[in-house]
Amino acid sequence: MKSKNIHTVFHLLMTFLLWSLAAAVDSKVPDINTLPVPREGLKTSPEEDELWCKPEQVHLSCGDTATDMVVMWTTVAPCDTHVVFSDKPWNFSRKVEGQAMEIKGKEDRSQKYIHRVVLKNLLPSTTYFFRPVTSNSFGTKPMYFETLPAKNSTSKVTFLVSNDLNPESDKTFISSIVDEVSSGFVSAFIYNGDLDNKLIPTEGRKDSLFLSNLEQIVAYHPFMTVPARSSAVSASSNMNHYLYRTMFSMPNIPWPMPENKLWYSFDAGLIHVISYSTEVFMSYNASLAKAQQTWLVHDLTEANKRRASVPWIVAFGSDPMYCAYGNPEVDDCARNTSAVRHSLEDMFYVFGVDLVVESAHRCYERSWPKYKGVNTNLELSYNQPRAPVEVVMGLRNVQQQQQRENAESNSSTPEPPVWSAYHLQGIKGGSYGRLTVMNGTHLKWELLSAEEQDPLDAFVIVQETHGNFNLANLPHNVSHQINQTIIAQGGKPGTYDFIRNVTGNDGNFSGEGWSKYSVWLGLGAVAAVLAVVLGMVAIRSCVSRRSRRRRWREGDTRDGAGGGFYSVGSGTDSEDDDNDFEIDVYDKASKQSSKLLTSY
Ligand SMILES: *[C@@H]1O[C@H](CO)[C@@H](O)[C@H](O)[C@H]1NC(C)=O
Ligand SMILES: *[C@@H]1O[C@H](CO)[C@@H](O)[C@H](O)[C@H]1NC(C)=O
Ligand SMILES: *[C@@H]1O[C@H](CO)[C@@H](O)[C@H](O)[C@H]1NC(C)=O
Ligand SMILES: *[C@@H]1O[C@H](CO)[C@@H](O)[C@H](O)[C@H]1NC(C)=O
Ligand SMILES: *[C@@H]1O[C@H](CO)[C@@H](O)[C@H](O)[C@H]1NC(C)=O
Ligand SMILES: *[C@@H]1O[C@H](CO)[C@@H](O)[C@H](O)[C@H]1NC(C)=O
Ligand SMILES: *[C@@H]1O[C@H](CO)[C@@H](O)[C@H](O)[C@H]1NC(C)=O
Ligand SMILES: *[C@@H]1O[C@H](CO)[C@@H](O)[C@H](O)[C@H]1NC(C)=O
Ligand SMILES: *[C@@H]1O[C@H](CO)[C@@H](O)[C@H](O)[C@H]1NC(C)=O
Ligand SMILES: *[C@@H]1O[C@H](CO)[C@@H](O)[C@H](O)[C@H]1NC(C)=O
Repeated sequence: MKSKNIHTVFHLLMTFLLWSLAAAVDSKVPDINTLPVPREGLKTSPEEDELWCKPEQVHLSCGDTATDMVVMWTTVAPCDTHVVFSDKPWNFSRKVEGQAMEIKGKEDRSQKYIHRVVLKNLLPSTTYFFRPVTSNSFGTKPMYFETLPAKNSTSKVTFLVSNDLNPESDKTFISSIVDEVSSGFVSAFIYNGDLDNKLIPTEGRKDSLFLSNLEQIVAYHPFMTVPARSSAVSASSNMNHYLYRTMFSMPNIPWPMPENKLWYSFDAGLIHVISYSTEVFMSYNASLAKAQQTWLVHDLTEANKRRASVPWIVAFGSDPMYCAYGNPEVDDCARNTSAVRHSLEDMFYVFGVDLVVESAHRCYERSWPKYKGVNTNLELSYNQPRAPVEVVMGLRNVQQQQQRENAESNSSTPEPPVWSAYHLQGIKGGSYGRLTVMNGTHLKWELLSAEEQDPLDAFVIVQETHGNFNLANLPHNVSHQINQTIIAQGGKPGTYDFIRNVTGNDGNFSGEGWSKYSVWLGLGAVAAVLAVVLGMVAIRSCVSRRSRRRRWREGDTRDGAGGGFYSVGSGTDSEDDDNDFEIDVYDKASKQSSKLLTSY
């Protein structure tokens, strides 16, 4: 009986002990759903730090130069922002502090804080090991990246290029890309697709999984974005692309990225990469288009000055300039009045852009070197192109694709136009691009199937004389046909559409804004650049005809061959001369352009 009592007491004691032990263990593992949300400056226990401060969604991007790298990640709480790094895997001897900010509109206990650290003055083409570190030295496992080759370094550069991507459904795609980047030959991953919608959490989740699902790729390689068209563009909201502008940081753009500067460029070895927005040409706010055009002309002018050491110029945008199988009702590229084409084609031609890669179209398309829809190379090849080559990667978004296919069924383009070199529809499992700068004369583009990693298309541009393209260098009949096309569209041969004709009025040049004067001013800027680069005396006639509205400094206009004639804001301004090549059509045109937008 006594022993039974003892047994009962022992049993109770053990139960109590186990229970309190369990309770103690329990209290050791804090539950993020019940803990009070820490405010800035609050010190928490190491256990809690793990919950609040674990870096998630780590992603990299190139910094302002090839020797800078930007590391970004999210946390739940406003934790410290540091990266420890080194060029050796075992000794993270360097520590850099960064900035963090709260992402507006996110729930408590979600990945609400975005952190950004810039690693500066790294060595080019060098592998670095790093860890994002927050409170109490809590951080991620070690990660690593390789910096880009220095400007004018002759090392081979390879970019993977993806169009719209849904990591949750595109598992095969992700594993192909992971395979590919693991090869160690990839300098950066260029994402030419929508991000705005990808960053919005799907229903029932606090956070989007987009960046987490891509972490294997984007925490180890610069993730370079191309501004896409947001379905959420509206005149009332100043939150356009808010998540995109906050979650990413691109070279030579302040962070968070401002709405009026989503475009950027960077050099990697022998290539100058440009990422531009095509949404601005359809935007309610025409000042954005103007800001980008100004920047593009400046950037391309500068890039051409360095062309001897950085010969290749490749531009990435969303909506294409041309498409062979588009429907004018839904596709800007299929219209004679294409906003994107009228805004960019002349500029890319004049400044000698080698390749333009776009994404937002139904199918994959590749063109011959062409200008105004006319093939510039008689032998139909990529040997010494005399105009830019255009590649359209096509959409992966099935819904959008379906929508466009429905519209397409009414398309009246049975025969592909002459410039269409290759065309692919409905690639099962999707595809991605690989752009390889082999050396100063050879640039290779490949399209690979995501399922097989097989090449679906490939070509090599061989260019021995990089620089501005010029009508004068074309065969007579080609130049003639281009001139005829320009005339048929109401233009004037030898003049260039640097600014999009946003009026939507066919051939109406009587408006104050998009006027013949501006065309001439555009030509002036072009001629100036040509003169710098080629030392040609090409601007005289243009100057004499419109000198009233020019800004050339006197000396330059006289000797014609001098440098430095194009300079914003210098020289003597007449009252009607507020922009060199920019045209103030935008305020007047914004009504029409918003109309244009809604027709999308
Ligand atoms: C780590 O690197 C720093 C700087 O390069 C060096 O001073 C230090 O001795 C290294 N520590 C070890 C343990 O190698
Ligand atoms: C890079 O440019 C510098 C200065 O312009 C020049 O001295 C050097 O030789 C170039 N290097 C290569 C590999 O072209
Ligand atoms: C258009 O964009 C500019 C530059 O971002 C901004 O200053 C202006 O307020 C915007 N206009 C409208 C109508 O949103
Ligand atoms: C574009 O212009 C050409 C000739 O200039 C004409 O044949 C064609 O129908 C036009 N296309 C559209 C979509 O307006
Ligand atoms: C396509 O054509 C059919 C008949 O010609 C017409 O009913 C339909 O509205 C058209 N669809 C589009 C998107 O133009
Ligand atoms: C550039 O690369 C191509 C392809 O690898 C090669 O055939 C060519 O000889 C190279 N040119 C130079 C100048 O190295
Ligand atoms: C120009 O002429 C060549 C042959 O002399 C011909 O092959 C080519 O198609 C012509 N190009 C155009 C655009 O008419
Ligand atoms: C086309 O126009 C340009 C610029 O006016 C001119 O230089 C060229 O000679 C013209 N070509 C032909 C074949 O008329
Ligand atoms: C202006 O737009 C009209 C149609 O909207 C087009 O026909 C014309 O060629 C454009 N002009 C220029 C110079 O872009
Ligand atoms: C051309 O544009 C001006 C100014 O926008 C307008 O007043 C005029 O009616 C237009 N003309 C035609 C033919 O569309």
